[in-house]
Order: sequence, then structure tokens, then C-alpha cells
Amino acid sequence: DHRTETLGTEMEVAGVPLQAATVDNWSQIQNFEAKPDDLLICTYPKSGTTWIQEIVDMIEQDGDEVRCQRSIIQHRHPFIEWARPPQPSGVDRANAMPSPRTLRTHLSTALLPTSFWENHCKFLYVARNAKDCMVSYYHFQRMNQVLPEPGTWEEYFETFVNGKVAWGSWFDHVTGWWDVRDRHQVLFLFYEDIKRNPKQEIRKVMQFMGKDLGEAVLDKIVRETSFEKMKENPMTNRSTVPKSLMDQSISSFMRKGTVGDWKNHFTVAQNERFEKIYREKMQGSSIRFCAEL
Ligand code: A3P
Repeated sequence: DHRTETLGTEMEVAGVPLQAATVDNWSQIQNFEAKPDDLLICTYPKSGTTWIQEIVDMIEQDGDEVRCQRSIIQHRHPFIEWARPPQPSGVDRANAMPSPRTLRTHLSTALLPTSFWENHCKFLYVARNAKDCMVSYYHFQRMNQVLPEPGTWEEYFETFVNGKVAWGSWFDHVTGWWDVRDRHQVLFLFYEDIKRNPKQEIRKVMQFMGKDLGEAVLDKIVRETSFEKMKENPMTNRSTVPKSLMDQSISSFMRKGTVGDWKNHFTVAQNERFEKIYREKMQGSSIRFCAEL
């Protein structure tokens, strides 16, 4: 049995906490049939998923922001492991979608349905530095009424570094995807780079997608996918999600969108402890992050 433990509303698969409904649907997810022309957006939670989704959609729509308004962003790219019966699951939504498909996941390389590897799909991975990711996830768990209560910041720090959050360890996730980048078609991007030079990074995404849009369209995509625009955009800011699921009076979904907010949360002692844990857990990896601009 793949259910090993319960954690709040979550259960674990191979030591990775996941939503109970996802675990209930695990065989459907594992048997998902990817197609060779699928593009999969892969992220650890709170690493800029919504941002890269909007960038990819703007590129797919040739910079036509009106076509990007056709539905809320959660529905544009099926979320493979998502399940909330009786609504159609992420797999159901993906199966109903015409090709070429753009899909998304928070799954680690270890848990990804194997058909993605077998079909040599394109993977677009966005990584965000661990400290900002932890801060963002903490505030997300405060407002998200489906995920467990985060507890105090001090408590959450331990939960996060031990990987006992939904979708598991940040360390395992980023190093796992980093390790496959040369063996598969992976475009590996960093949140901080997109923040620093959005046009350059958006151009990389465009080229990876096999598109050729002019400079004016690229400039438009930069503008339309800025934090300020996406915070006001009802199709990206989760304002249509009921308060019983996301209480944005506690914390906004589009919260700050910056690099380095961890400095407003980490104490000096926490930062030292974090750096030590980080060195231990990341010692075998060549991946390098920046945590301030
Ligand atoms: P903060 O909580 O630090 O503000 P995800 O979409 O993976 O859940 O990630 C959410 C994080 O990405 C939030 O971080 C959110 O504000 C940030 N974000 C969303 N859109 C963004 C944008 N256009 N530019 C920069 N950051 C963005």
C-alpha cells in the first residue's frame, strides 16, 4: 500500500506528503499517458508556477492578452496530480485536452509518471531559492484552508527543512530536476533570473517552445506578466477561488513577488542554521542559487 502515514489532511507517497485526494487517485496519476509533444511545466510549490504559466500562455497565444483571459490560469494547463472529486481530476482534464498540450506538475523526478520520460517530453523547470520559497510557502499555508496550518514561523522552519510539506523536500526536488537536465529536454530556469532580466528569460522560453515572436511582442509579454499586472488580473490572482479554500484577507496569493523577502523573516540564528543544513543537503550538487538581487 502506498499510503504510509497521515499528516493533517495529507498522506505520503514514498515519504512525500501529498493531498489525500491525490494519493487516493495515485494509480490513475502514475498510469498517465504523456504524448511526445507535451510540454510539462514543473515547479516546486511557490517557485513562480503561475508566473511561468502566464508567460508560456502569452507565448502560445502570440502575445494576445485577450486570449489569455479565456479562463482562470488554474484551468489553462491541467495539473497532473490534482484531484478533488467529484470535479474532473488533472488527468481527466489532460486526457480531454487537444494536442499539443501544456501541462503542469509539482511532482519530483522520483514521482513523475514514467510516460513523460518514455515520450521524451519537454520539461520547463523553474527553481526559486529555498529561503524565499519557504517564506512564500509559509504565508500560502496560512491562507490556504486545504493545506495544514503552518504553525509559528519557528515551527514552519523545521517542517520545511525536513521536507514535511506538501510535495516534499525542496532540496530533493531541485536537485532531482537539476540532475536530469542534460539527459532530457529540460529548460531549467531560476525565478531570480526571470525577475532580474525577464525579457532574456522569456526569450529562452520562446525558443524552447519553438516559437519566433518579434521584439515588440516580447516587450508586451514582459509587461503583461509583471507582478503588478498579474496581481490585478482576476484570471491569475486567484480572486475567483472561494474564501473557504483561500482566505486572501490573511495573505494574498500574489503576495510580494520579490527576491530577498527572507531577510524580513529569518533571524540571524535561523539563517546560520539554515546555511549549515543547506551545505549538508546540497553538498553533492552543482546547482547555484542567488537569494538577493
Ligand atoms: P511570494 O509569496 O514571495 O510573493 P506559485 O505560483 O508557484 O504558487 O508561486 C507563487 C509566488 O510567485 C508568490 O511569491 C507570488 O507572489 C509570486 N509571483 C506570482 N506572479 C509573479 C510575477 N508576475 N512576478 C514575480 N513573482 C510572481
